[in-house]
Amino acid sequence: MKNSHFSRAGFILAASGSAVGLGNIWKFPYMAGEYGGGAFVLVYLLTIVCVGFSLLVAEILIGYSGEKDAVSSFEELAPKKEIGWKYAGFMGATGLLIMTFYSVVIGWILYYVILSVIFLPTTMEAAQQGFGDLVGNQAWTQIVFHLIATVLIMSILLKGIKGGIEKTNEILMPILMLIILGLLLYAMTLDGFKESLRFFFVFEFSKLSSEAITQAVGHSFFTLSIGMAAILTYAASLPRRTNIVKAAFWVVFLDTSIALMAGLMMYAFIFEFNQDPATGPGLVFISLPVVFSQIGTLGTIFAVLFFLALAFAGLTSAISIVEPTIEYTMNRLEWSRLKSTLIASAIFFIVGVFTLLSYTAEYGAIFTFGGLPLFDLLDKLTTNVLLPLGGLTVAIFVGFVVRKERVYASMSEFVSKGFFEAWYFNIRFIAIPALVFTLLNLVGIIKI
Ligand code: PHE
Repeated sequence: MKNSHFSRAGFILAASGSAVGLGNIWKFPYMAGEYGGGAFVLVYLLTIVCVGFSLLVAEILIGYSGEKDAVSSFEELAPKKEIGWKYAGFMGATGLLIMTFYSVVIGWILYYVILSVIFLPTTMEAAQQGFGDLVGNQAWTQIVFHLIATVLIMSILLKGIKGGIEKTNEILMPILMLIILGLLLYAMTLDGFKESLRFFFVFEFSKLSSEAITQAVGHSFFTLSIGMAAILTYAASLPRRTNIVKAAFWVVFLDTSIALMAGLMMYAFIFEFNQDPATGPGLVFISLPVVFSQIGTLGTIFAVLFFLALAFAGLTSAISIVEPTIEYTMNRLEWSRLKSTLIASAIFFIVGVFTLLSYTAEYGAIFTFGGLPLFDLLDKLTTNVLLPLGGLTVAIFVGFVVRKERVYASMSEFVSKGFFEAWYFNIRFIAIPALVFTLLNLVGIIKI
């Protein structure tokens, strides 16, 4: 075993660290608020169970069997005459696009960790104004915090798989889980908790719009880190004879439970203090600080812990989003880890500056295309188009291109033939049609 390999438990932590991110604690709660609560949650859960889990197994399988960067792993597994499939590995580049807004948001979060210590807004207006001012007027503050986020991410990645990625996840993931669990336990004592449960689990058919479906499906991919070779790249450094199905199960289980726990906790606070659940991306930056300010000193502690947990979740995902590019440039272009990390980080840092400028009053117009600020454009392009497309590519590759015996060989030791067949069928005849349908729905060819 190379010492650049994960341990088995280390892999599960790192892959869960990738999955559990801003998607769970920042995006999921506000999306549920925007797209109809229970209806959104139902589609999200269904996609995860029916498609997400199988696809995650498929992605891990490609990395685990290929044992290299994504491009080389696709090349290794494709039958000789279909070597063009190696280009599918370039889906890893989606990561750089995601990072251009992900790192900006981690910057906001770091800013809010500090802000929570100094001062929490006590009214909704003040909170709205504070966040609006940061995003709309304070370009330099944002650039500084985006730079701090970039430097933190780089410093982890420079230490490689074992000393950087595995170690960081081993430290940050347990702390993150404890903080969310602690806050949830407190939230369960509030009356708002019942309302929160109702909000998440009562399903109203009328709220199920075609947009809500697209968003929920896209988000399932985003939250499981599927469709851009992130966990695939981690899986290339797995020790042999690892039960990849069990590993995938843990990742899905932890990711989904942490999203639901964080969502239930936040809405319990929000309902308890009569705040608005549908404030969009500003939810954690606007409604929550006001809520925490009303709990006194304990509230300040909650706020700091909450934003720290959010920062940890973001960082452990960010490193997995950049690593595919680093592994590719190291393996195929023979760059050093230093050079790969510096160049990849410089790219997302610089484009990230344009992304954050797209929300500012002064430069917004320059970075707005077809009515969409660059920030939203990149978020929607990656979440709703590129990740589902990446997922579809993985499903077609594993379901129809790689020889079935080869696919079976990578898990035969750990699962029954029946399980394998059910999973294989799921990839071929459920995941693929579901993905095609979602993508068509997106371009408006099929309108539900
Ligand atoms: N899953 C991460 C989150 O929920 C984001 C991510 C997307 C990470 C794609 C890796 C790949 O925040």
